[in-house]
Amino acid sequence: MGVKAPPPIDRGELSTEPTKNRLVPRHVAVVMDGNGRWAQVRGKARIQGHRRGVETARQLTSLCGRAGVEYLTLFAFSSENWKRPPEEVRFLTRLLISSLENEISRLQENQIRLNVIGDFRPFGQKVEELVARAREQTFSNTAMTLTIALNYGGRWDLTNAVRELATACEERRMTASDIDESILSQALSTGNLPDPDLFIRTGGEIRLSNFLLWQLAYTELFFTDSLWPDFSEEHFEQALDAYQRRQRRFGQTGDQVTT
Ligand code: IPE
Ligand code: IPE
Ligand code: MG
Repeated sequence: MGVKAPPPIDRGELSTEPTKNRLVPRHVAVVMDGNGRWAQVRGKARIQGHRRGVETARQLTSLCGRAGVEYLTLFAFSSENWKRPPEEVRFLTRLLISSLENEISRLQENQIRLNVIGDFRPFGQKVEELVARAREQTFSNTAMTLTIALNYGGRWDLTNAVRELATACEERRMTASDIDESILSQALSTGNLPDPDLFIRTGGEIRLSNFLLWQLAYTELFFTDSLWPDFSEEHFEQALDAYQRRQRRFGQTGDQVTT
């Protein structure tokens, strides 16, 4: 696989199964949508919405840390977002560079480990260098893992993983019959993360937009009309409340889960 995630954090047992019946989701995955519309309704350029969106991401990271969330994964740029006007893509790349430069000290202060998924090489050498440096500097942080999805697509992830396993079979390092769900999970770019417990999408659209397709199989989904720059502590509390009211059955009956 072209881009490798860092090795797993040693937390004793790290299962890809979402954790059952916990009050606080262990892993929260977010599609931060609605930046452009937030700006447009205010008569501003779309890029102003992206700028505000970074502030919301910073705020949510801190809220998750306080709530005891161990993994936060943010969808920042999809493999389809290259289809946007070139000026917007250029602005997003510059914003990515300045965020990587400016946020590292805050991540260090808060003991947050930075992880990146997606093929970020097309953003250029500067981004590659900053990602490498940020990963290295925050590597031993243990309070929370913040994963940023950059040029990420769920189909890209699955395709890469399948290619990696097929290569291993060709090279006789494994056989096709060795492939099971756990091996495929580990070959994904999220192989070092548990599956998300709670998925949040802002911006009113009820779709996944090619986010973590495999990993969201049993995740609790929460959609809100609130546009990303408006997503506040109150909205996050609503998402946590909704999560706590869900009964995660994983195919079992309700009675089986409660006893
Ligand atoms: C999400 O906000 C940020 C990115 C996809 C980079 P949008 O830019 O998609 O905002 P809307 O959906 O157009 O309002
Ligand atoms: C999803 O938002 C991607 C990110 C938030 C990075 P989009 O705005 O790209 O999704 P669609 O195009 O409305 O499905
Ligand atoms: Mg959008």
